[in-house]
Amino acid sequence: MNNFEFCNPVKVVFGKGSIARLSALIPEGSKVLMVYGGGSIKKNGIYGQVTKALEGFEVTEFPGIEANPHYETCMKAVEVVKEKKIDFLLAVGGGSVIDATKFIAVSVGFEGDPWDILSKGGEIKSALPLGTVLTLAATGSEMNERSVISRVSTREKLNFASPLVFPKFSVLDPEVTYSLPARQVANGVVDSFIHVVEQYLTYPVNAKVQDAFSEGLMRVIHEEGLKVLDNPNDYDIRANLMWAATNALNVWIGQGVPQDWSSHRMGYSLTAQFGLDHAQTLAILLPGVMTYMFKEKQAKLARMGEVVFGIADGTEEEKARKTIAACEDFFSRMGLKTRLGECGITEKDLDTLAAPVDKQGWKLGEHHNIDSRVAREIMALRL
Ligand code: NZQ
Ligand code: ZN
Repeated sequence: MNNFEFCNPVKVVFGKGSIARLSALIPEGSKVLMVYGGGSIKKNGIYGQVTKALEGFEVTEFPGIEANPHYETCMKAVEVVKEKKIDFLLAVGGGSVIDATKFIAVSVGFEGDPWDILSKGGEIKSALPLGTVLTLAATGSEMNERSVISRVSTREKLNFASPLVFPKFSVLDPEVTYSLPARQVANGVVDSFIHVVEQYLTYPVNAKVQDAFSEGLMRVIHEEGLKVLDNPNDYDIRANLMWAATNALNVWIGQGVPQDWSSHRMGYSLTAQFGLDHAQTLAILLPGVMTYMFKEKQAKLARMGEVVFGIADGTEEEKARKTIAACEDFFSRMGLKTRLGECGITEKDLDTLAAPVDKQGWKLGEHHNIDSRVAREIMALRL
């Protein structure tokens, strides 16, 4: 196991009716900016629950955060924060609203163009405090220090991380996910499953605690994920998926182990240039990474197959091959596509799709050996 320093300061309030706890979680006297998305919270009762819980606070609303949140929209929110002298941000939504809120939090006090935080690793010295009410189980953003933002004008999607944007608290009521469309439920299952895979599926470093946690999470997400579309109002399924998704990316299972975020990073351009949902990009690319890096990942692929998919027969290599097929089958059963061609992407698009890997100077994968040439070859496997 590799050395690590670990701290996750996020307070989680989990369960039915927990939105009512907001008034006790936000510091008294705060001037709150309530950040939310395109209006789903007004149709499913979440807006009413939140505004009731915020009675007594001075609240300004900032709706209209897009899926794959736009830098341009965040900058408008920064103006509102300054004008209204906001001192606490409350995100009510999925990963997009939470990520936007994190970016707003660090942009307010940033000297210079906040896009530099994403494109040049601009140093973050301050952030407004924020809390979240999660409405979609997927990204883990509610309990981590990451954020992913898109710039419409340049068709770029980039991320940043800072301990200053760990939420002060996150409210997780599984019942609020009943209203999600099937596509978003499936996206959440696939995204959270692949978060675990990208921290697990590298090479063994004898990190037994992290491996056992990861294997447990993958099993739960696989089992419950296959049930949830037919049982959308089953509280236990929703609760297990929500808590699993949070744990899949709350910086816990990735401590002391090599990680491989190549599917995520390569996927950014599929979203920025072709508008594919985040999870959809991963369902296509992950089997490509597994196939291209087969030798490097064979030992853990085989073990993953045994523990997660019950693959008992064959040599290590055969089990590893079956695991890749089982992953593709899982993503298909969730309703996601697994080939670029199914999304209208062809060979002629690959150069542009792979280009950001070099532009950002990324060397992806646990061995840092995926540059834009290799990224293109991986994408070519998925046409
Ligand atoms: O905008 P509204 O109207 O609220 O509708 C949203 C949105 O259209 C809807 N929705 C959310 N909760 C709902 C609901 N509809 C009905 N009932 C509810 N309870 O769902 C749609 C998708 O929401 P979004 O927030 O975009 O989805 P998700 O949570 O999957 O977030 C995706 C974003 O997170 C980033 C992705 O790149 C993408 O931009 N990620 C963030 C990460 C992080 N911060 O750690 C890691 C992830 O790997 C990921 O990259
Ligand atoms: Zn993801």
